Amino acid sequence: MSDTAATVGSSPGEIFGAILAPAGKADPYPLYAALHEIGEAAEVMPGLVVAHSYDAVNAMLRDQAFLVADAARLDQVWAGWREHPSLEADSLLNLNGADHARIRSAVAGAFTPRRVNQLTAAVEQVAGGLIAAMTEHGSAGSPVDFMAEFAYQLPVTVICELLGVPEADRAAFRPVARDLVVALEPIEDPAQLIPADAAAIWLTDYFTDLVARRRAEPQDDLLSALVVAGGLSDVELISNLILLLVAGFETTTNLLGNGLRIILTRPEVESSLRAGQVTAADFVAEVLRYDAPVQATSRWRPDPGEVGGVPVPPGAQVIALLGAANRDPRRFASPDRFDPARSDGGPLSFGAGAHFCVGAALARMEATVAFPRLLASFPRLAAAGQPVRRTGLVLRGFDQLPVSVC
Ligand code: HEM
Repeated sequence: MSDTAATVGSSPGEIFGAILAPAGKADPYPLYAALHEIGEAAEVMPGLVVAHSYDAVNAMLRDQAFLVADAARLDQVWAGWREHPSLEADSLLNLNGADHARIRSAVAGAFTPRRVNQLTAAVEQVAGGLIAAMTEHGSAGSPVDFMAEFAYQLPVTVICELLGVPEADRAAFRPVARDLVVALEPIEDPAQLIPADAAAIWLTDYFTDLVARRRAEPQDDLLSALVVAGGLSDVELISNLILLLVAGFETTTNLLGNGLRIILTRPEVESSLRAGQVTAADFVAEVLRYDAPVQATSRWRPDPGEVGGVPVPPGAQVIALLGAANRDPRRFASPDRFDPARSDGGPLSFGAGAHFCVGAALARMEATVAFPRLLASFPRLAAAGQPVRRTGLVLRGFDQLPVSVC
């Protein structure tokens, strides 16, 4: 039994409870290791199964018998859910079957690797501008917050440019998106959703207005293309614009922050990146595996089934721990070692199957552009104070990451 399991108790329920506690969210990895010792999946309480091995999570996400919680499911399990606009029932993340496929095919074309490649020069330009601003703010040796000045700004600028959100409106999104993503975390008390609901109403009003303007006068952007193409109701369109906006930067922000933290705390990684012994693409792939920006997602199934050899009763919810699957010793040799040269790659950080992340190529490209430029521009980049971690389990990253750049 691992030390952690001995401390928190060794039953799956106790370990899962510890993962949900503040200390577990701050560092879930020893607790994931304790789960791996138990098996591939476990029922942690009646009606709630956790899948944590690579094979179990991968198989479950690819199996269409496991469904995302759509409106019909929420009606069964939560009578009052319709009072919460933050539980966007028309977004891709909450749709199954034909509705999911129809909306996904409408949006996914904008994010293919070929389309993403065409954006590389624009991303380089945005990154260059942000680095110039960081240089100016940090030139007197004062700390610069990497999260506020770069990790948030790069993805939000890119996704807003793509969607067609005017520049003047972008600054307002950070706090609103921060409030909205609480709806992705495990909800113990509906009161948790009050700020998320307010954020959803704000964003719905914002996009309702923007859709009307683009309908009247289409521009060369994704939002106008979706409006002109038709095929989505206004409610579907707006829900998915909100998803693209928020998914487009909340997660990529954390990829950039988690990666920079590794550079700041592991001199050997920094020097091999600077020397070109490790490529930016391999570094980014290993950051995604080692400290996944999205740690968990969930499914349910109406009929009896199994995951990782554990029975899933009809109606049970299954939490897929992506962050644990990426540290599964059955799949990754020495999983707790950060090793960009590893060849046992293929982490589940972007999910798998029908809901595989639409923006995976874009997120990878942004990070692959960003890190080499940051290192080349800041030869003396260093930590400049304690980072502040975000408190959620699902979205893993930092609120603040102070650095000195000169
Ligand atoms: C490092 C950055 C990112 C990570 C780690 C990430 C992770 C994920 C994961 C794990 C899922 C699957 C959820 C599930 O199966 O329940 C997902 C879905 C999704 N992601 Fe990302 N994402 C990232 C960046 C992006 C970007 C840049 C965009 C926007 C262009 C985006 C848009 C979406 C959308 C629309 C879905 C829903 C797809 C569907 O349900 O069919 N993501 N993402």
